[in-house]
Amino acid sequence: MIKNHDRVVIRGLRDVAAAETRISFVDPMGILYYSGFNIDDLVEKVCYEEVAHLLLYNRLPNKKELDDFRSRLISEMYLPEEVIECLRSTPVDSHPMEVLRTAVSHLSMFDPERIDLSEAATIRRAIRLVAKVPTIVATLHGIRSNQQVPKPTREFGFAENFLYMFRGKTADEDEKDAIDRFMKLHADHGFNASTFAARVTASTNSDMYSAVTSAIGTLKGPLHGGASEKVMLMLDDINTEEEVEDYIQGMLDDQKKIMGFGHRIYKTEDPRTKHLRGIAEHLCQRTDNISLYKTCGKIENVVHEKKKIFPNVDFYAAVVMDALGVSGEFFTPFFASSRISGWTAHVIEQYEDAVLLRPASKYVGEFGRTFVPIEKR
Ligand code: CMC
Repeated sequence: MIKNHDRVVIRGLRDVAAAETRISFVDPMGILYYSGFNIDDLVEKVCYEEVAHLLLYNRLPNKKELDDFRSRLISEMYLPEEVIECLRSTPVDSHPMEVLRTAVSHLSMFDPERIDLSEAATIRRAIRLVAKVPTIVATLHGIRSNQQVPKPTREFGFAENFLYMFRGKTADEDEKDAIDRFMKLHADHGFNASTFAARVTASTNSDMYSAVTSAIGTLKGPLHGGASEKVMLMLDDINTEEEVEDYIQGMLDDQKKIMGFGHRIYKTEDPRTKHLRGIAEHLCQRTDNISLYKTCGKIENVVHEKKKIFPNVDFYAAVVMDALGVSGEFFTPFFASSRISGWTAHVIEQYEDAVLLRPASKYVGEFGRTFVPIEKR
């Protein structure tokens, strides 16, 4: 039997492999694979629906399967009236991630197959969530900005439909390309904190909505998906390239983390950064905001010089979303709307693994304390 004082604590579970997965691999040397495919290939050659299909079924769809899958997703992009009502009733100052977390939990009660735990029903539930999470985000935005949310159309791809519903206007070619790439790049990322949270919940045989609700609550934190919103606040604070050096030094002197930088796994640049940097440059050029892009480049250089760390996915993702007209508080909901495909794939994989995720802890409290009755304390 292991004695408590012999236990080794791995702080932050750094480098601990908690389960096997076939869904994605984060290579510390700066390569990301989805089901064996390098994302550098996927981002250029397939659409978001193909990536979602790959994650859920472990294979890319053929043409007919893709058409059916897309059609299925688009037909599921509606919400029960009760959930829309719930969105309407949220306080205007509540954060969209709080609302999304609550709405997914609420949605669970309207799942038409909620008591069917068969494999087939589970995959149908995953598809429903992949379709409905973006709709929740778009509908909340419509309510908050007092604009009608258009119905999705089969003429558009899934990512394009999401942006169309969110902004209430059609996207041009560059915007379509940008949102599709954004969603592919955010679809999965190994055992990141929110995915792990989803898997822990699923490991108790709890339902998929509960697992996704756990994941959303975890993604919300600024050390995880919440970082992109903070990146924009930093960029808003810095007016010109010339201010970068002092601003960053000031943050470091105050022991503050630079949002959108650093990573637990990558020892080199996050492989998603180069793609998002390219999209950000193109969109900033189009919107006559190249000075913002240049400021980002300067921040990258200064942070690297001072801390030897690289930008992660959240840094340029913030610039891309800003250029697409998405306001800061909706950045993390956009991340969630893409990561839902990875989360649901991991939940299914966890059900297959069928083991309770329950680590040990090292107790550092006291033993043998003398009990004192309440009247004598
Ligand atoms: N700004 C300043 N210093 C940093 C940063 C940063 N963003 N990230 C890491 N460091 C330093 C850290 O202070 C430590 O330095 P030292 O060895 O001198 O004490 C060293 O780098 C190692 O960092 P760590 O905190 O041990 O790394 P970690 O693996 O525990 O944390 C992280 C990873 C992502 C939480 C952290 O880099 C961070 O807080 N970054 C800012 C928030 C952020 O951008 N989060 C998004 C993460 S990636 C995408 C996602 O999940 O959404």
